[in-house]
Amino acid sequence: ILRMTDLDLAGKRVLIREDLNVPIERSQSGEARITSEQRIQAALPTLRAALEKGAAVMVMSHLGRPKEGVWSPEDSLEPVAKRLSELLGVEVPLVRDWVGGVEVKPGEIALLENCRMNVGEGKDDEALSKAYAALCDVFVMDAFGTAHRAQASTHGVARHAKIACGGPLLMAELDALANALETPARPLLAIVAGSKVSTKLELLSSLVGKVDQLIVGGGIANTFIAAMGHDVGKSLVERDLVDTAKQIMAQAKARGADIPVPTDVVVAPEFKADAPATVKPVDQVGADDMILDIGPDTAARYAELIRNAGTVVWNGPVGVFEFDAFGRGTEALARAIAESSAFSIAGGGDTLAAVDKYGIEQQVSYISTGGGAFLEFLEGKTLPAVAALAQRGA
Ligand code: 3PG
Repeated sequence: ILRMTDLDLAGKRVLIREDLNVPIERSQSGEARITSEQRIQAALPTLRAALEKGAAVMVMSHLGRPKEGVWSPEDSLEPVAKRLSELLGVEVPLVRDWVGGVEVKPGEIALLENCRMNVGEGKDDEALSKAYAALCDVFVMDAFGTAHRAQASTHGVARHAKIACGGPLLMAELDALANALETPARPLLAIVAGSKVSTKLELLSSLVGKVDQLIVGGGIANTFIAAMGHDVGKSLVERDLVDTAKQIMAQAKARGADIPVPTDVVVAPEFKADAPATVKPVDQVGADDMILDIGPDTAARYAELIRNAGTVVWNGPVGVFEFDAFGRGTEALARAIAESSAFSIAGGGDTLAAVDKYGIEQQVSYISTGGGAFLEFLEGKTLPAVAALAQRGA
């Protein structure tokens, strides 16, 4: 893959695809507030580098999933343009109609309105991809978070642009993930947690063939606990996947990998922030109990594994950490990751919320900007936008 950092961009028209799809809260009066600007922050070094090299910079991104062909204020990148202007310290105009051409001079930057409003974007339309390509001398794919989508702004334009390259953020993400999965310092430990086995089945199946330890948490762990023959009471569990959980455990065992299962859990009679929390050994969960976190002994055992790991990949909180009484397990693991000398990667919306809550951003080696893209990479899938760049060669 050709890298942006190897190109001379002086005086060039450079179209940069970023993933500026940030969560935005809107008040009754329509005022917008960006609730997490992690993706904007992550894109800044690329934008600054292109400006410093003297490029005329056009930034392209989607926001949410609007209907194509319709402009509406809640789908507009306006709040992002405003925030980018503040962070870059230069005016970043938002260009509403841009497919036919954009006026921007070397050393200047403009943000193009939500590309998913363009008809044909979602189905990777060839004519639209060519229109995007015609806007620039160089296309920079920097949106790791959207690299798993084969759309006109990620995949099509990469095929048709005069020059197509990978931006610093995309390349850093790919390098960090490849480093963790392909040439990891061992032991390689993955934490896969979340409510359902079904949504993480491909991830579990892929990782079980690579890792030395696989910590499962949340509702996923409940299905594994049930697979061990324990009662999980009223807990979230997928009975139809108990056999699958057994197979995954057998697969791990066959290659000498370990899937530790909780020995103690925190239970409550209902799913509520102020529900009374009780620690119980895993074999004493009653019919009216709901497992909402791992217990302290389990947390200490997992933390020890994390401290001794060479590489840690973290996706998903191990308990209902939004409720403080059921967040101790996730907090213990987060602290262990922060203290561990292992190379650590965290990704996914809930995981980043936990990283944020426990204030360990600086101690995680790499925080991915990807949600779906992060998972697909870990599942061993090819990301279409990355494949398009690779096909163009270096
Ligand atoms: C994300 O938030 O995961 C990316 O921005 C991709 O968004 P999408 O799932 O709407 O394609």
